[in-house]
Amino acid sequence: MELFDVYPINDIEIVKGQGSLIWDNNGEQYVDMYGGHAVISIGHSNTHYVQSISNQLNKIGFYSNSIKIPLQVQLAQKLGQISGREDYQLFLCNSGAEANENALKLASFANGRKIIVSFTKAFHGRTSLAVAATDNPKIIAPVNQTNNVVFLPFGDAVALENYFAQNGKQVSSVIVEGIQGVGGIHVASDTFLQSIRNMCDAYGAYFIADSVQCGYGRTGKFYAHDYAGVDADIYTMAKGMGNGFPVAGISISPKLKPWHGMLGTTFGGNHLACAAALAVLEEIENHHLMQNASTIGNYLISELKKFPQVIEVRGRGLMIGIALPPELAHIKNDLLFKHHIFTGEAKPNVIRLLPALNLTQAHADTFLTAFSTLLNQTLK
Ligand SMILES: Cc1ncc(COP(=O)(O)O)c(C=O)c1O
Repeated sequence: MELFDVYPINDIEIVKGQGSLIWDNNGEQYVDMYGGHAVISIGHSNTHYVQSISNQLNKIGFYSNSIKIPLQVQLAQKLGQISGREDYQLFLCNSGAEANENALKLASFANGRKIIVSFTKAFHGRTSLAVAATDNPKIIAPVNQTNNVVFLPFGDAVALENYFAQNGKQVSSVIVEGIQGVGGIHVASDTFLQSIRNMCDAYGAYFIADSVQCGYGRTGKFYAHDYAGVDADIYTMAKGMGNGFPVAGISISPKLKPWHGMLGTTFGGNHLACAAALAVLEEIENHHLMQNASTIGNYLISELKKFPQVIEVRGRGLMIGIALPPELAHIKNDLLFKHHIFTGEAKPNVIRLLPALNLTQAHADTFLTAFSTLLNQTLK
């Protein structure tokens, strides 16, 4: 059997990782400024994380949601405390798309409405409703097409308010990333997020904060939406939550009430996933990783802004987009193949940095030096 060939891949086989360093099968070392797409939050092979998962696996790895799993309660308490939302409720699932799917569904159950407001350049995942709320027709299959999703211009509070004035009573939920990731690292302004909160309150719609990529401490606050000083009704999270172990969740305001059978999943919240997610939160808390994300992120952003060739530096903390002119589109590949530094990209010419939250200043400097060398070469 062959693999279903859907991923464009680099000819590199990674066999080992430690912190923000990874090694290939030839023993070559790389700096990971990509975190496997924002997933590696506390560094590769983190000791506490490996021990927590191993210990749990030696006891029991999985049993279904038909029994008590105290680890889920522990995880909910820790998450409530670190995210500053102790009165919220946690539903655990397995991926970012599934988290968004459940959030959209929950909102619709609660207010009985169908319309979802999403925004230009949004990415919310590849399952049915999540992909329908994603602004990329190429990945929406005919079966996923629906008139229930409306796309409004990202960042345009006036367009949002006009839409609500006409159709507000039909809107079930508004879903928005605090910082658009796949869309190219675009920060939602405070006033835009505040306007979403106001419209949802005025018309009985629910505010869903997609924190799958921008959440979990990456920006220096637990949720990127926190910068706007607003509470969402539902926060969705995944990527950094398990540092590579597939675990996701939605944090749900007390105003939304559950009933048995409303949501469900076989694997969600299993013992191993909870052990992984708890270890991540403990590392974030014990080693002040949100503070580190903010400090090292601010340093990177201010240094990157000094390069005259860079069109724009966007983002917050360790979620950074570097917009380059088209003739410098090769820099991302040069970083990887000439300097052994992994970064991400957003089309057409944005380099995305999504490293572990415990990235050191030394590794940030390794990246800056390589980036500077490559940019200087383009001047010659
Ligand atoms: C903002 C956002 N939401 C949802 C998803 C989907 O997450 P997953 O790939 O875990 O389904 C992603 C993935 O990149 C994302 O960036």
